[in-house]
Amino acid sequence: MRVLGIESSCDETAVALVSCEAGTFQVDSSLVASQVELHRPFGGVVPEVASRRHLEVIYPLTEEIFRQGGMPPEKVDLVAVTAGPGLPGSLVVGVSFAKALAYALARPLVAVDHVKAHTLAIFLEAHPAFPFISLVVSGGHTALFLVKSPGEHYLLGHTRDDAAGEAFDKVARLLGLGYPGGPVISRLAAKGDPQKIPLPRPMLESPDLDFSFSGLKTAVLHLVRSGKTLETTDLCAAFEEAVCEVLVEKARRALTAFGLSTLVVCGGVASNRRLRQRFKELAWKEGWQVLFPSPEYCTDNAAMVAVAGYFTFQETGPAALDLDIYARSTFPHLPLPRS
Ligand code: KG4
Ligand code: ZN
Repeated sequence: MRVLGIESSCDETAVALVSCEAGTFQVDSSLVASQVELHRPFGGVVPEVASRRHLEVIYPLTEEIFRQGGMPPEKVDLVAVTAGPGLPGSLVVGVSFAKALAYALARPLVAVDHVKAHTLAIFLEAHPAFPFISLVVSGGHTALFLVKSPGEHYLLGHTRDDAAGEAFDKVARLLGLGYPGGPVISRLAAKGDPQKIPLPRPMLESPDLDFSFSGLKTAVLHLVRSGKTLETTDLCAAFEEAVCEVLVEKARRALTAFGLSTLVVCGGVASNRRLRQRFKELAWKEGWQVLFPSPEYCTDNAAMVAVAGYFTFQETGPAALDLDIYARSTFPHLPLPRS
């Protein structure tokens, strides 16, 4: 089955062609048109600007994907599109385009949840057995899930304020480092000493699996305003270390609580080198399997949408052409088992 994936939930327009056979996936072509340069002067994504750019690029990007994939649109068996969560104006562009394409080609359409797709991206490169724990850590989301099957994702805990990637972006902005913050903070952090500047580990002591990153950002702000002489590299390293420590510890608790040994770490922040290193250390220490998609499949992409679309189609069949977009996901919540 050849699946065309379409993603436009935030500031990346992405299209991919993925061949799926008996649970094995091959990316025939995958393109991402990033809007980073467009939003950089504003220090963050401007929704109105994002949706206009999606509209401009989605058609030529899709033409290019078929050219690169070396096949005509008629070879597509299924059209999969992100229906939410995300910016409504941006989602509408991808969903309307996908509906038109599915109708014109007389092919089934499936709606994909962007957060689930981040987790399912791992199937592009690995085959973890269910159930497993997934940590989705991106610019819009930071949450832990118990994943029982491709479609059954139970929420164990999530951020009560900023997502981890959002915290990277906000800290970078207040340090005058530009946008997006994750990659630049990570680069500077590699040259700094994470122990020199003490920063809090928010919610580390709390027994649940929720996160909070806005206090950490405020702690950095107070330090900057204090007038102390601080090396930016040390501050970046201390901030990165604090985020990594909380993420690793909460994920460790989730695996322990459910007696599982496989963890998937995904979403844009999962491309962070220090985070990957910390999780590899955990895997080695506990004898667990910790899997990350390649960096290109951690950040927003459409190959993950195609994979999620394939699974959705197997489980629920096609969606109706009047399917709607949604700004927020709702996942069933699972409390921690009593120890
Ligand atoms: O998954 P993604 O592309 O979009 C969302 O669904 O949000 O994630 C984007 C986020 C941004 O906040 C960006 O700063 C962060 O991922 N990010 C990183 C790194 N690369 C991207 N954060 C930390 N370290 C990185 N290397
Ligand atoms: Zn994302």
